[in-house]
Amino acid sequence: MASINLCSLSRFILLLLPILLQFHSGNCELQLNYYEQSCPKAEEIIKQQVINLYHKHGNTAVSWVRNLFHDCMVKSCDASLLLETSNGIESEKESERSFGMRNFKYVNTIKEAVEKECPSTVSCADIVALSARDGIVMLGGPHAEMKTGRKDSKESYASVLEDFIPNHNDTISLVLSRFQSIGIDVERTVALLGAHSVGRVHCVNLVHRLYPTVDPTLDPDYADYLKGRCPTPYPDPNAVLYARNDRETPMILDNMYYKNILNHKGPLIVDQQLASDPKTSPFVEKMAADNGYFHEQFANAIVLLSENNPLTGDQGEVRKDCRFVNAN
Ligand code: HEM
Ligand SMILES: *[C@@H]1O[C@H](CO)[C@@H](O)[C@H](O)[C@H]1NC(C)=O
Repeated sequence: MASINLCSLSRFILLLLPILLQFHSGNCELQLNYYEQSCPKAEEIIKQQVINLYHKHGNTAVSWVRNLFHDCMVKSCDASLLLETSNGIESEKESERSFGMRNFKYVNTIKEAVEKECPSTVSCADIVALSARDGIVMLGGPHAEMKTGRKDSKESYASVLEDFIPNHNDTISLVLSRFQSIGIDVERTVALLGAHSVGRVHCVNLVHRLYPTVDPTLDPDYADYLKGRCPTPYPDPNAVLYARNDRETPMILDNMYYKNILNHKGPLIVDQQLASDPKTSPFVEKMAADNGYFHEQFANAIVLLSENNPLTGDQGEVRKDCRFVNAN
């Protein structure tokens, strides 16, 4: 409550006395350890939940990374992704671009643990961000210093989602411009795609590279592997037919992704293009050669992504249940 009042007050002062601008230290913006006073154990509880869930279902950590991308890329890091379809408004989770996303029910597990300690205090948007941060560490990735203080949206952006989240076969130019528009440069975009070092790709997203003819840019042995995983050109979209993003270290967030795509072993067209496009290939080579450099760029980029246009202060709300806006 105190921080909301302080925040509105400072907005009011800002309105009257623009000269005070220089003293306005960003009460309405994200900050490190935003819940220090209101819920001191919040970050620890989230981390413990992420660790417990990882030990039960390792792929939850993978989901937290993809969740951050799909939530933050679309307008704002505001947990709009997590809303269920209601009142005829489609959920972002139901969109075609969200195909294959999983483990949403375990977001509720994390939220419940936090609610038990501090009711109606910690936003779902911060749970999306912090679970990604902690999930990255569980996957052997770098630690990212992440700020908090995001609020939750009251709406879903499913109808405009495709203007933000690229498709698996989009051009690198389009991908770069989407990231550029939220302040993420070419090098950091290349780093973020390194998230495809973990997890899976369903056959629906790659059969067009195998049938009727095999995409000549694919390594032939790798194409055989993919055909083995996806034996028909018309996979049942509901069947769980998928290939590993990275066959060598499928659950480690490392630079194997870059080595794979340089060897023509990238499952998606967008992955393969990253290695061949002259705008991105120098960074791909640098990251393939140096895991430490990849981790440094990845941590930096994931923080930028997590800070995309958040709702703060008295904007939005803190949802009680991440799946639904609060009842008034
Ligand atoms: C150009 C941008 C991107 C495109 C077109 C794209 C597309 C895709 C597609 C088609 C899949 C496979 C889904 C399935 O069939 O199950 C996937 C998986 C995944 N993506 Fe991306 N992605 C992009 C960027 C990112 C970024 C920036 C991140 C995170 C930083 C990310 C994280 C993931 C993860 C972790 C998975 C595996 C999910 C799982 O196994 O459950 N992606 N992506
Ligand atoms: C990209 O893939 C989708 C199916 O996921 C397809 O409808 C679309 O035509 C493809 N676009 C291009 C440019 O190949």
